[in-house]
Amino acid sequence: MQFFLDTGDLNEIKTAHSWGLIDGVTTNPSIVAKTGKDQMTLIREICEIIDGPISAEVIALDAPGMLKEAAELAKINKNVVIKLPMTKDGMIACKKLSADGVKTNVTLIFSANQALLAAKNGATYVSPFIGRLDDVGQTGMDLIAEIRTIFNNYGFETQILAASVRHSEHVKMSALAGADVATIPLKVLEGLFSHPLTKMGLDQFLADHAKSKK
Ligand code: G3P
Repeated sequence: MQFFLDTGDLNEIKTAHSWGLIDGVTTNPSIVAKTGKDQMTLIREICEIIDGPISAEVIALDAPGMLKEAAELAKINKNVVIKLPMTKDGMIACKKLSADGVKTNVTLIFSANQALLAAKNGATYVSPFIGRLDDVGQTGMDLIAEIRTIFNNYGFETQILAASVRHSEHVKMSALAGADVATIPLKVLEGLFSHPLTKMGLDQFLADHAKSKK
Protein backbone atom coordinates (compact mmCIF):
# COMPACT_ATOMS: atom_id res chain seq x y z
CA MET A 1 0.00 0.00 0.00
CA GLN A 2 1.28 3.44 -0.85
CA PHE A 3 0.99 6.45 1.44
CA PHE A 4 0.57 9.96 0.09
CA LEU A 5 0.65 13.00 2.38
CA ASP A 6 -2.49 15.17 2.08
CA THR A 7 -0.98 18.61 2.63
CA GLY A 8 0.73 21.61 1.09
CA ASP A 9 2.88 22.27 4.16
CA LEU A 10 6.49 21.78 3.06
CA ASN A 11 7.76 21.19 6.60
CA GLU A 12 5.21 18.41 7.06
CA ILE A 13 6.23 16.89 3.74
CA LYS A 14 9.93 17.02 4.70
CA THR A 15 9.19 15.44 8.09
CA ALA A 16 7.18 12.54 6.66
CA HIS A 17 9.71 12.09 3.87
CA SER A 18 12.52 11.77 6.44
CA TRP A 19 10.67 8.76 7.90
CA GLY A 20 10.82 7.08 4.49
CA LEU A 21 7.08 6.51 4.44
CA ILE A 22 5.78 8.89 1.80
CA ASP A 23 5.30 7.84 -1.82
CA GLY A 24 3.54 10.99 -3.05
CA VAL A 25 1.51 14.07 -2.10
CA THR A 26 -2.06 15.22 -2.76
CA THR A 27 -3.29 18.80 -2.75
CA ASN A 28 -6.61 20.48 -3.46
CA PRO A 29 -7.67 24.13 -3.76
CA SER A 30 -8.39 24.35 -0.01
CA ILE A 31 -4.95 22.95 0.84
CA VAL A 32 -3.25 25.34 -1.60
CA ALA A 33 -5.19 28.33 -0.18
CA LYS A 34 -3.93 27.51 3.34
CA THR A 35 -0.30 27.89 2.18
CA GLY A 36 -0.85 31.42 0.79
CA LYS A 37 1.15 30.42 -2.31
CA ASP A 38 0.02 30.09 -5.91
CA GLN A 39 -0.49 26.51 -7.02
CA MET A 40 2.31 26.43 -9.61
CA THR A 41 4.91 27.59 -7.06
CA LEU A 42 3.69 25.16 -4.41
CA ILE A 43 3.66 22.14 -6.74
CA ARG A 44 7.14 23.03 -7.99
CA GLU A 45 8.41 23.16 -4.38
CA ILE A 46 6.78 19.83 -3.48
CA CYS A 47 8.31 18.19 -6.56
CA GLU A 48 11.75 19.21 -5.29
CA ILE A 49 11.19 17.21 -2.10
CA ILE A 50 9.24 14.15 -3.25
CA ASP A 51 10.02 12.05 -6.30
CA GLY A 52 6.56 10.50 -6.65
CA PRO A 53 3.02 11.30 -7.76
CA ILE A 54 1.97 14.86 -6.78
CA SER A 55 -1.73 15.65 -7.35
CA ALA A 56 -2.64 19.20 -8.40
CA GLU A 57 -6.29 20.09 -8.98
CA VAL A 58 -7.74 22.10 -11.87
CA ILE A 59 -10.09 25.00 -11.12
CA ALA A 60 -11.87 25.31 -14.50
CA LEU A 61 -15.30 23.72 -14.76
CA ASP A 62 -15.27 23.24 -18.54
CA ALA A 63 -13.21 20.55 -20.28
CA PRO A 64 -11.21 22.93 -22.53
CA GLY A 65 -10.31 25.05 -19.49
CA MET A 66 -9.34 21.94 -17.51
CA LEU A 67 -7.11 20.74 -20.35
CA LYS A 68 -5.43 24.14 -20.57
CA GLU A 69 -4.66 24.14 -16.83
CA ALA A 70 -3.55 20.50 -17.02
CA ALA A 71 -1.06 21.33 -19.77
CA GLU A 72 0.51 24.05 -17.59
CA LEU A 73 0.62 21.86 -14.50
CA ALA A 74 2.02 18.85 -16.37
CA LYS A 75 4.92 21.01 -17.59
CA ILE A 76 6.16 21.42 -14.00
CA ASN A 77 7.32 17.83 -13.57
CA LYS A 78 6.67 14.32 -14.93
CA ASN A 79 5.32 13.37 -11.48
CA VAL A 80 2.41 15.82 -11.57
CA VAL A 81 -0.98 14.08 -11.50
CA ILE A 82 -3.93 16.14 -12.76
CA LYS A 83 -6.78 16.13 -10.27
CA LEU A 84 -10.16 16.46 -11.98
CA PRO A 85 -13.63 16.76 -10.46
CA MET A 86 -16.18 13.99 -11.03
CA THR A 87 -18.32 15.90 -13.53
CA LYS A 88 -19.18 15.38 -17.21
CA ASP A 89 -16.51 17.87 -18.22
CA GLY A 90 -14.09 16.26 -15.81
CA MET A 91 -14.71 12.95 -17.55
CA ILE A 92 -14.14 14.49 -21.01
CA ALA A 93 -10.81 15.88 -19.78
CA CYS A 94 -9.96 12.56 -18.09
CA LYS A 95 -10.46 10.60 -21.32
CA LYS A 96 -8.29 13.02 -23.30
CA LEU A 97 -5.49 13.23 -20.71
CA SER A 98 -5.42 9.44 -20.28
CA ALA A 99 -5.14 9.02 -24.06
CA ASP A 100 -2.24 11.48 -24.01
CA GLY A 101 -0.48 9.52 -21.26
CA VAL A 102 -1.03 12.16 -18.56
CA LYS A 103 -1.77 10.77 -15.08
CA THR A 104 -5.14 11.74 -13.59
CA ASN A 105 -6.82 11.61 -10.19
CA VAL A 106 -10.62 11.92 -10.26
CA THR A 107 -11.66 13.56 -7.04
CA LEU A 108 -14.86 14.03 -5.03
CA ILE A 109 -15.91 10.40 -5.51
CA PHE A 110 -18.85 9.52 -3.27
CA SER A 111 -20.37 6.52 -5.09
CA ALA A 112 -19.16 3.31 -6.72
CA ASN A 113 -20.83 4.35 -9.99
CA GLN A 114 -18.77 7.54 -10.09
CA ALA A 115 -15.60 5.45 -9.61
CA LEU A 116 -16.75 3.13 -12.42
CA LEU A 117 -17.17 6.07 -14.81
CA ALA A 118 -13.70 7.41 -13.97
CA ALA A 119 -12.11 3.98 -14.45
CA LYS A 120 -13.86 3.57 -17.83
CA ASN A 121 -12.33 6.87 -18.94
CA GLY A 122 -8.86 5.72 -17.93
CA ALA A 123 -8.29 7.56 -14.64
CA THR A 124 -5.00 6.69 -12.96
CA TYR A 125 -6.55 7.20 -9.51
CA VAL A 126 -10.02 7.65 -8.06
CA SER A 127 -10.33 9.46 -4.75
CA PRO A 128 -13.28 8.29 -2.61
CA PHE A 129 -13.71 10.74 0.29
CA ILE A 130 -14.35 8.39 3.17
CA GLY A 131 -14.34 10.88 6.05
CA ARG A 132 -16.86 13.15 4.36
CA LEU A 133 -19.19 10.18 3.82
CA ASP A 134 -18.88 9.29 7.51
CA ASP A 135 -19.70 12.94 8.30
CA VAL A 136 -23.12 12.61 6.62
CA GLY A 137 -23.94 9.33 8.34
CA GLN A 138 -22.83 6.90 5.62
CA THR A 139 -20.02 4.37 5.97
CA GLY A 140 -17.14 5.61 3.84
CA MET A 141 -15.31 2.33 4.14
CA ASP A 142 -18.12 0.43 2.41
CA LEU A 143 -17.44 2.56 -0.67
CA ILE A 144 -13.78 1.48 -0.79
CA ALA A 145 -14.86 -2.18 -0.62
CA GLU A 146 -17.47 -1.71 -3.37
CA ILE A 147 -15.00 0.00 -5.71
CA ARG A 148 -12.39 -2.72 -5.03
CA THR A 149 -14.91 -5.42 -6.03
CA ILE A 150 -15.96 -3.59 -9.20
CA PHE A 151 -12.39 -2.88 -10.30
CA ASN A 152 -11.42 -6.51 -9.65
CA ASN A 153 -14.49 -7.79 -11.54
CA TYR A 154 -13.43 -5.98 -14.70
CA GLY A 155 -9.66 -5.80 -14.30
CA PHE A 156 -9.57 -1.99 -14.17
CA GLU A 157 -6.06 -0.76 -13.42
CA THR A 158 -7.31 2.52 -11.92
CA GLN A 159 -5.93 2.79 -8.40
CA ILE A 160 -8.15 3.41 -5.39
CA LEU A 161 -6.80 6.36 -3.43
CA ALA A 162 -8.58 6.54 -0.06
CA ALA A 163 -9.00 10.27 0.68
CA SER A 164 -10.52 12.35 3.45
CA VAL A 165 -8.78 10.05 5.91
CA ARG A 166 -9.40 11.33 9.44
CA HIS A 167 -7.94 8.73 11.84
CA SER A 168 -5.81 5.61 12.05
CA GLU A 169 -8.81 3.27 11.87
CA HIS A 170 -9.53 4.69 8.39
CA VAL A 171 -5.98 3.72 7.34
CA LYS A 172 -6.30 0.17 8.66
CA MET A 173 -9.76 -0.35 7.18
CA SER A 174 -8.65 1.06 3.80
CA ALA A 175 -5.75 -1.39 3.77
CA LEU A 176 -8.05 -4.28 4.69
CA ALA A 177 -10.52 -3.27 1.97
CA GLY A 178 -7.74 -3.25 -0.63
CA ALA A 179 -7.22 0.46 -1.33
CA ASP A 180 -4.04 0.92 -3.36
CA VAL A 181 -3.14 4.22 -1.70
CA ALA A 182 -4.23 6.25 1.32
CA THR A 183 -3.65 9.98 1.36
CA ILE A 184 -3.14 10.99 4.96
CA PRO A 185 -2.67 14.16 7.00
CA LEU A 186 0.63 14.21 8.97
CA LYS A 187 -1.20 13.97 12.30
CA VAL A 188 -2.87 10.71 11.24
CA LEU A 189 0.41 9.31 9.91
CA GLU A 190 2.11 10.09 13.24
CA GLY A 191 -0.68 8.30 15.08
CA LEU A 192 0.11 5.07 13.20
CA PHE A 193 3.41 4.72 15.07
CA SER A 194 1.90 4.64 18.54
CA HIS A 195 0.63 1.89 20.78
CA PRO A 196 0.64 2.20 24.59
CA LEU A 197 2.19 -1.26 24.96
CA THR A 198 5.11 -0.23 22.73
CA LYS A 199 5.84 2.71 25.03
CA MET A 200 5.43 0.61 28.19
CA GLY A 201 7.60 -2.16 26.79
CA LEU A 202 10.36 0.23 25.81
CA ASP A 203 10.30 1.94 29.23
CA GLN A 204 10.60 -1.48 30.87
CA PHE A 205 13.49 -2.58 28.64
CA LEU A 206 15.39 0.62 29.39
CA ALA A 207 14.74 0.31 33.14
CA ASP A 208 15.99 -3.32 33.14
CA HIS A 209 19.03 -2.36 31.09
CA ALA A 210 19.88 0.41 33.58
CA LYS A 211 19.64 -2.12 36.48
CA SER A 212 21.82 -4.70 34.72
CA LYS A 213 24.65 -2.20 34.35
CA LYS A 214 24.94 -1.67 38.14
O1 G3P B 1 -7.48 15.83 -0.64
C1 G3P B 1 -8.81 15.54 -0.48
C2 G3P B 1 -9.25 15.06 0.86
O2 G3P B 1 -8.33 14.21 1.45
C3 G3P B 1 -9.92 16.04 1.74
O3 G3P B 1 -10.04 15.64 3.07
O4 G3P B 1 -10.52 16.08 5.44
O5 G3P B 1 -11.01 17.86 3.73
O6 G3P B 1 -12.42 15.80 3.87
P1 G3P B 1 -11.05 16.39 4.09
